[in-house]
Amino acid sequence: MNSFEIYTPTRILFGADQINVFAERAAQLGKHAFVVLGGGTVEKLGFLQPLAEQLANLGVKLTHFRGIEPNPEAATINRAAAQLKAVGADFVLAVGGGSVMDAAKSIAALAYTGEADIWPFVAGEARAFQLSGALPIAAVPTTAATASEVTPFAVISNREVGGKSIISHEFVKPRLAWLNPSFTQGLSATVTQDGAADIFSHVIENYLLGTDISPLADRYSEAVMSTVFETLPRLLANPHDLQARADLMWASTLALNDYQKAGRAEAEFVLHSIEHSLSAKHPELAHGRGLATLYPAYFRWLLGKDRAQARLAQLGTRLFGVKEGSPAERAERFIQLFEDWLQQNGLLQSLQDLGFNSSEFEGIAEYAVKTYGDGNQLNALGPITRSDIVEIFQRTDRQSLVSR
Ligand code: NZQ
Ligand code: ZN
Repeated sequence: MNSFEIYTPTRILFGADQINVFAERAAQLGKHAFVVLGGGTVEKLGFLQPLAEQLANLGVKLTHFRGIEPNPEAATINRAAAQLKAVGADFVLAVGGGSVMDAAKSIAALAYTGEADIWPFVAGEARAFQLSGALPIAAVPTTAATASEVTPFAVISNREVGGKSIISHEFVKPRLAWLNPSFTQGLSATVTQDGAADIFSHVIENYLLGTDISPLADRYSEAVMSTVFETLPRLLANPHDLQARADLMWASTLALNDYQKAGRAEAEFVLHSIEHSLSAKHPELAHGRGLATLYPAYFRWLLGKDRAQARLAQLGTRLFGVKEGSPAERAERFIQLFEDWLQQNGLLQSLQDLGFNSSEFEGIAEYAVKTYGDGNQLNALGPITRSDIVEIFQRTDRQSLVSR
């Protein structure tokens, strides 16, 4: 097992009845909260008001910023940070999905650093990773998906230049998070599916590429994957199944708090690099949907290169009970059974189904290797070049359920 360091500064409160504790803890972060919100759903569903009242009772002043879009836009973040500085808020409260939390993190860092534009600070740009700190952040996630409430990442889109890239700093890890699974009961089937696909990705990326030297990390990751497999069908049948909502929401946090890969080798987040490049080109594409579309094609590409075979075979055995056959056969069987699961749960499609044209593939692959790789390739137990990425995109064709 490899040595590792894990830093998890987020105080996590879980459960609908934690509102008072959350408000009290949040009030310790400052006297004036800059409340970051999305497109309006969370307020319409009535999630904000009781919390706002509690905070007001504790003497916390609130300034609201509404309108963070899914795949949050750099220009919106810049506008919000300018407003935060103008009103003089001393901490940031995010109430929303990953997009809202990521925007809040970026706003908190931009305001602290005293800069006006977030884009030069993302990976691949001139001042990448040079932000100097952040105001304290409290987060109330309302999707089960990204784990942004515990991660050092914020993923930012820039529609003007066709970019999607990240900031990554320990100082943007929220100090405080309140996970209330009942907030996720109103999520649409589509957003629930997208989130489930994202949770799965956060554990499988390093599972496949990070070696087999940490058996407990494997078991931990498999528990997250099994939870996704079990809860998504239940939620598609009954979106109000609170037990399943709670299980999925907790799985989402556990999937990317770094425990999922503790003791394994470091490896790139290849699917994420490629998916972010897809969403950069088509900002209407949800992150989880893009990942789901890449899975079967990427897994088959790895197998075709004789990579990660034993890891895929182990998943076949442990997640689907596949006991017969050689490692290559069990790995292939895992991919087939996983593809069946995607289909049964509304997550199987091709890039063409999502509105991509094959003429765009080269440019997207180019963006991926330039922004997330060394300029020529990514690394998935060996090089994954531009043309490999294009091949993976093309291979999603066979996943289409639409007859053309
Ligand atoms: O905008 P509103 O009106 O709030 O509606 C949102 C949005 O349309 C809606 N929604 C949120 N909570 C709801 C709700 N609808 C009903 N009930 C609720 N309780 O859901 C839609 C999608 O929201 P969004 O925040 O975009 O989804 P998600 O949580 O999946 O976040 C996706 C973003 O996070 C990034 C992705 O790339 C993407 O930009 N990621 C962030 C990571 C991180 N910070 O560590 C890691 C991830 O890998 C990911 O890349
Ligand atoms: Zn993700």
